Amino acid sequence: MPYNPRVVILALNSRLSALDFFMERTLILLKPDCVERRLVGRMISRFEDKGLNIIAMKMIRVTPELAREHYAEHVKKAWYPALEGFITGAPVVAAVVEGLEAIRVVREMLGATSGLAAAPGTIRGDFSSSRQMNLVHGSDGPEAAKREIALYFRDDELCGYQPTVTQWLRASDEG
Ligand code: CDP
Ligand code: MG
Repeated sequence: MPYNPRVVILALNSRLSALDFFMERTLILLKPDCVERRLVGRMISRFEDKGLNIIAMKMIRVTPELAREHYAEHVKKAWYPALEGFITGAPVVAAVVEGLEAIRVVREMLGATSGLAAAPGTIRGDFSSSRQMNLVHGSDGPEAAKREIALYFRDDELCGYQPTVTQWLRASDEG
């Protein structure tokens, strides 16, 4: 029986949208300690090696205003002034990373907040011995990701693309 092109297009569309459901974007910040310690390249490599896709990236100086917006949930905490001093103390590299379940995957790659508690093999576990200077930020959920990406990037700065290597990173029915 010949294919009905309309049915094929519909089937393709529904398959794509089902996989799109797991395709996420998350904000990472390579914090001032990461920049000062010359670890930017190695951190970016870890995300690239994992198969995540960097779709935006820039170096900026976080202002106190931006710090207060970004860390709104922590502003009233006793340690917030020290955090603000740290995050505004040298440039950061902000990036948007895209991939299947990227929000959770990135958080797991980072490890626990304190480098002393983070498991070996994680970024913080391998490179940090501090609860403040833990090298990389990653959004902690879909709402935070949306909010934080908008804090650092305009929509037209996000350059989504499908790398040709994708076909060698995962099977076609995995997204
Ligand atoms: O980054 P994460 O979500 O793992 O931790 P958080 O509890 O949301 O805290 C945000 C950031 O504040 C941490 O990544 C640390 O850099 C910093 N922090 C700190 O300076 N002192 C603490 N006692 C806890 C966190
Ligand atoms: Mg957090």
